[in-house]
Amino acid sequence: MRIFVTGGAGYIGSHTLVQLLGAGHDLCVLDNFSNSSLEALRRVRQLTNRDFALVEADIRDTATLTEAMSGFAPDAVVHFAGLKAVGESGEKPLLYYDNNVTGSANLLAAMDTAGCRRIVFSSSATVYGEAQYLPFDEDHPIAPTNPYGRTKAMVEEMIRDWTAATDGASAALLRYFNPVGAHESGRIGEDPRDIPNNLMPFIAQVAVGRRAKLSVFGDDYETRDGTGERDYIHVVDLAAAHSAALEYCARTEGCEAINVGTGRGITVMEMVAAYEEACGHAIAAEIAPRRPGDVASSYAATAKAARLLNWHAERGVDAMCESSWRWQSTNSEGYGEKA
Ligand code: NAD
Ligand code: UD1
Repeated sequence: MRIFVTGGAGYIGSHTLVQLLGAGHDLCVLDNFSNSSLEALRRVRQLTNRDFALVEADIRDTATLTEAMSGFAPDAVVHFAGLKAVGESGEKPLLYYDNNVTGSANLLAAMDTAGCRRIVFSSSATVYGEAQYLPFDEDHPIAPTNPYGRTKAMVEEMIRDWTAATDGASAALLRYFNPVGAHESGRIGEDPRDIPNNLMPFIAQVAVGRRAKLSVFGDDYETRDGTGERDYIHVVDLAAAHSAALEYCARTEGCEAINVGTGRGITVMEMVAAYEEACGHAIAAEIAPRRPGDVASSYAATAKAARLLNWHAERGVDAMCESSWRWQSTNSEGYGEKA
């Protein structure tokens, strides 16, 4: 397949490129490098021994996007490009609506021009908001609690409407739970720009000595040990879900939202213990107040992914921590300078 990948230089994008190149697909990556580096792409080429087209551009630059898409003539698009920091989305909501929503509208218009009718979109479990029940299945009410989540919910609706209006169109809205870990080589991984907001990169930076200690946000939740419980999904399993979703879109028409998780919750303290095992030393952690907006537990119902995509997560928490540590310990400053 010829696949056009927006945001392919990012964390999930780079791992998915390895998967798709390994499967023999031809790729064109479009990225503005606002949160990624060329170095990640160089390493993807090295790992796979394959090349791909690269366009440095913003998805909001209609002319360049349309020209790149039409020139490449893809069979399908995988759409990762987006901003993802929940806190920042509250401070700069218009930036998030412009980048994520306007950018996605441009992308669908460029697909129309290029005659491309298949899309796999990076959505998020954050669209569900507070759990009315667990596990979250795809029919759970959509009620995001922050602007970032609302951009994802809006783009889902936009893609649903576009699919309904476009003959032969097919879309998979992948609702990721908590992606963590790295490629088993340790050559590519998650490289947050600032102080990490998310648990796993923070633990990794404490483990490697870049930060003194982890603050555990609350130990009085109604969970096994009182700390927050999440459905962490290995990024390599997540990458494989994209392959499966592309195959699904190639044989179906319509639009489906599909959870991508393991179905199993892991608490903060369980994750710390698993990381200590992986890195071989203790990780300093202290109990801190709850983080506003956090929920006790979140985990996925996985039956729909199994049924439609014939996909399930294969890697457990040990592989997540081992691969994260391999990446972090051999690249303590990530990729270094951004592009
Ligand atoms: P990332 O920031 O590492 O990757 C996003 C990529 O998109 C980056 O390379 C960035 O430079 C690029 N980009 C951003 N805006 C762009 C624009 N306007 N034009 C062109 N390129 C642009 O993030 P990630 O963790 O790899 O996430 C990928 C996608 O998955 C995002 O849409 C994110 O919202 C979604 N998602 C991520 C998570 C997570 O925890 N990482 C969870 C759920 C959903
Ligand atoms: C965050 C985002 C969510 C996004 C998801 C994707 C917020 C509020 N939500 O959710 O929109 O879809 O990532 O991965 O940012 N924790 C600590 N100490 C830390 C960091 C986290 O104890 O320094 C705890 C949290 O309280 C939570 C768990 O670790 O219980 C996971 O946190 P995090 O990695 O930020 O993910 P989410 O809260 O699920």
